[in-house]
Amino acid sequence: MFKSLMGWVDERLPISEFMRTQAVEYPTPKNLNYWWNFGSLALLVLIIQLATGIFLVMHYKPDALLAFDSVEHIMRDVNWGWLLRYMHANGATFFFVVIYIHILRGMYYGSYRAPREILWWIGVIIFFLLMGTGFIGYVLVWGQMSYWGAVVITKLITAIPLIGEGLVVWVWGGFSVGDPTLNRFFSLHYLLPFVLVGLVVLHIWALHAVHSNNPDGIDLEEKDTIPFHPYFTIKDFFGYGVALTIYCYFVFFAPNAFLEPDNYIPANPMQTPPHIVPEWYFLPFYAILRSIDFLGPYSKLAGVVAMVAAIAILFVLPFLDRSPVRSFRYRGISKGLFWIFVVDCFVLGWVGFSPADRMVFGLPIVYIGRTATAVYFGYFFLLWLVTALNIEKPKPVPKSL
Ligand code: HEM
Repeated sequence: MFKSLMGWVDERLPISEFMRTQAVEYPTPKNLNYWWNFGSLALLVLIIQLATGIFLVMHYKPDALLAFDSVEHIMRDVNWGWLLRYMHANGATFFFVVIYIHILRGMYYGSYRAPREILWWIGVIIFFLLMGTGFIGYVLVWGQMSYWGAVVITKLITAIPLIGEGLVVWVWGGFSVGDPTLNRFFSLHYLLPFVLVGLVVLHIWALHAVHSNNPDGIDLEEKDTIPFHPYFTIKDFFGYGVALTIYCYFVFFAPNAFLEPDNYIPANPMQTPPHIVPEWYFLPFYAILRSIDFLGPYSKLAGVVAMVAAIAILFVLPFLDRSPVRSFRYRGISKGLFWIFVVDCFVLGWVGFSPADRMVFGLPIVYIGRTATAVYFGYFFLLWLVTALNIEKPKPVPKSL
């Protein structure tokens, strides 16, 4: 009966055929390592965020007078509300851990290189949107850090010449961050995840059009691939098991490890917290923003440009890397630069977390911030230089697996 029902559906919508070619028999490189688990992990976290978010909205009030209390109501009165909220808040942290590893994997194995440029660009757009969604979601709690974070970040708009001052009033819906701001942020925080879902569909479509890259970064023949099911379904589910164990540890045993204590104080526009810090996943970019402080009246604008450029530069990465070889496995200099880049991102994160007046070895921390910012952009410049001038001599690459 099931077979005949499926046959009836397939004649009208060939779903079995689609599943067979795209998920079951889909040819997948047989040498993919565990770094290739992070795409499907990102998908899992997106689903967790959507599912918990929809139930949170049933009890949340996007009103400046009620928002903070409604979150407390969720935590204390709503059945399993604490679980929904902790899953959602820690899910955001988890999402960024997964996405950062997913992006770095792509950078190390040259997955951004031809013919995967469009796949990569869709990824960069997803990353931008994810940051926006994370930021406005954090504001919804309407605690001290939510409020002042929103003030600091939205005020960056004023750096835009001529229209900045008018634009920020338009974004706020008033003359300061307030109830209309919260309302529109809420509306967008509900909308953007669905835009993300659409982009993820495009992302996977683009992936299936060009097929997965692999750790050797070589173009594979038919004999080097194996069917996605059962080999990679089982591997993805194993990855889910490991990742969910870590996630559940935080949700159940250390739910506030990544949450800011100041955000348990209701938003107070009359009292600025002594030390405003964004969520950990924005810290490297926040450090870049604050590092450009030596251009007098242009510092703010230059800081904003540098911060946006730090992500936007990923768009041109496919053109900067001119090596004949994709994977950094075979590229000594690129590999060295890559690891310096990774360490540098941690340094930037630490600088972003530190108070601006902190001294390190008798020097203001901003000096370290400036150096780390130069190293960040230096990575992209040097990658272009060593590959364009053929300075790097890659090791021999295997023809097939
Ligand atoms: C919601 C966010 C995202 C989801 C759900 C997602 C999902 C996926 C999935 C399922 C794969 C195939 C499995 C794998 O290769 O790991 C993949 C591959 C890929 N993703 Fe993403 N992705 C997301 C964000 C991003 C971002 C932000 C970037 C880059 C800026 C990116 C770049 C790539 C690339 C280049 C590949 C191909 C990798 C290869 O074949 O070597 N993705 N993604």
